[in-house]
Amino acid sequence: MSRGQPKAKNDLACLILAAGKGTRMVSAQAKMLHPILGVPLLSYPVERALELRASPIVAVLGYQRAEVEKALIARHGQGTVIVVEQTEQKGTGHAVRLGLAALSRWEGTVLILYGDVPLLSRETLTALVKKSRSGGTLAILTAELAEPRGYGRVVRDSHGGVVEVVEHKDASEGQRRITEVNAGIYAAPAAFLRRATARLSPRNAQGELYLTDIVAKAATGIGVSSVSVNAEEMAGVNDRQQLVAVEKTLCRRIVSQLGRHATFRDPEAVLVEASVTVDQDAEIGRNVVLRGRTRIGAGARIENGCILTDTEVGAGAVLLPYTVANQSSIGPGAKVGPFAHLRPGSELGPDVHVGNYVETKKARLGRGSKANHLTYLGDTIIGEGVNVGAGTITCNYNGYEKRQTIIEDGAFIGSDTQLVAPVRVGKRAVVAAGATITEDIRDGALAITRVPLTQIDGYADRVAQRYANKAAPKR
Ligand code: UD1
Ligand code: CA
Repeated sequence: MSRGQPKAKNDLACLILAAGKGTRMVSAQAKMLHPILGVPLLSYPVERALELRASPIVAVLGYQRAEVEKALIARHGQGTVIVVEQTEQKGTGHAVRLGLAALSRWEGTVLILYGDVPLLSRETLTALVKKSRSGGTLAILTAELAEPRGYGRVVRDSHGGVVEVVEHKDASEGQRRITEVNAGIYAAPAAFLRRATARLSPRNAQGELYLTDIVAKAATGIGVSSVSVNAEEMAGVNDRQQLVAVEKTLCRRIVSQLGRHATFRDPEAVLVEASVTVDQDAEIGRNVVLRGRTRIGAGARIENGCILTDTEVGAGAVLLPYTVANQSSIGPGAKVGPFAHLRPGSELGPDVHVGNYVETKKARLGRGSKANHLTYLGDTIIGEGVNVGAGTITCNYNGYEKRQTIIEDGAFIGSDTQLVAPVRVGKRAVVAAGATITEDIRDGALAITRVPLTQIDGYADRVAQRYANKAAPKR
C-alpha cells in the first residue's frame, strides 16, 4: 500500500447525520431515540462505526440534541462520539459541512452514515471504504429498488460511470424512471469533502444544501465509484411502520443465527434482542420475548409466551407458558410457571419448583425447594429442600420498610400461612396450615396458631326454622 502511514488507529473517521426531527414518526420523542430491539435507532450506525474502528466518530445532532446526546453517552460512554449541533436543518450537505468542522485536521477517509439507516452490514461498509481508498474516489452506496419514489436517483453515462445523483423532487420524468437509487452513505477523502461541501448551493426544489451535489463534483474530479447493496440493507426508518419492519428484519437475523443450534418453534413469532445468548439444544416456543442480558442455558425449554429480561436460565430448566422474569436467575433443572412472576433479585437454585401464580422478589430459593401455588415471596432467603404451601405470603412491608423472612433447610410451610417479617423459621420446622407467624420458630418445632375448632350440631335446621316464612336459601 502506497499510502500506508504507520498509524496506531485505523485511518478512518465517521460522520453520522442525525439532526432530523423525524416528522413522519409523529412523536414527542426524537426519532433517533426510538428503540429497535431495545437499542436506540442512532446507536446502530454508532456501533457499526465502532466495529470499523473509526475514530473520531462525529454525530451531527439537532432536534432534541440534549436528550439524544445523553442517550449516546449512556450507551457508548462519555467521549466516544463527538457531538456537533446543527440548530437549523439546511440539508444533508450543510450537516456534513458542520460535521467536518470537528474534523479540521483530519486527512484520512471519512465515512458518512445516516442516523436512521440501521441495517447496513459491516461487510458492506468495509467494501465502501476500501473502494474509496483504492482509487482515492468518492464511493457511494446504491441499490436497485422496484419502487424508487422519493429517493435520489443515480444517473450514469453510456459507459456506466456515475455522473450525478438527482433528488426525486428535482428529477425529470426520464430520470424518475431510473431504479438505481442513492442510499445516502458515502466514503471519501476528507480533503475532497471539505472542498466539495464548501461550494454547495441551495438552488434546488427544497432550497437545501444537498450532500448529493458532491457526486457531480467528484465525477469531474477525483472520480466516483459505487458499491451496490440490497434494498433490505439500506432500509431507512422514517415512520413507525418502517421502524417495526426493520426490527423484524434484525430479529429474523438474530433468530436464524441462534436457530442453528437451538430450536425456535416459530421463528417469526419471537422477539430476541441482539444481546441475548441461547445455548445448544435450548427450545424456544411461540411469542417468547428475550431481552437484554438474558442467557438461556443448554437444553433449557422456554415455553409459549414467556417474557424474560436480563434473566439467566440454567441448563435444562423448564419455563412453562407465560412466565415473566426480570433481573433474575433460574438454576439448572428448575421448573417455573405457568404464570409465574419473578421480579428483580429472584434467585432460584438448582431443581427449584415455582408454580402458577407465584410472585417472587429479592427471593433466594435453595436447591430443590418448592413453592408451587399462589404465593408471594419477597425479601426472603429460603434454604434447601423447603416446601412452601399454597397461598403462603411473606408480609415483608410494614408501610415504611421492607423486612426479611428466612426459612431454613428442610422446613415445611403449611398452606395459607402469613410470615410477618422480620421472622425466621428454623431447620425442619413445621408450620401448620393457616398460621400467622410473628416470631422465630425453633429448629424442628411445630408452629400452630389455629383457633380451636368448634362444631354446633343442628345449626342448619335451627336457622331454617327461624326463617321458615321466608324462601329457603338455595343450597
Ligand atoms: C437523502 C438523499 C437521497 C437518498 C436518501 C436515502 C440528500 C439531499 N438526499 O434524502 O439522495 O436517496 O437520503 O435515504 O442527501 N439530516 C441532518 N441535517 C439536515 C438534513 C438531514 O442531519 O439538515 C440527517 C437526517 O437526520 C437523516 C439524514 O440526514 O438522518 C438524511 O436526511 P433526510 O432528510 O432523510 O434525506 P432524504 O430526503 O431522505
Ligand atoms: Ca430519509
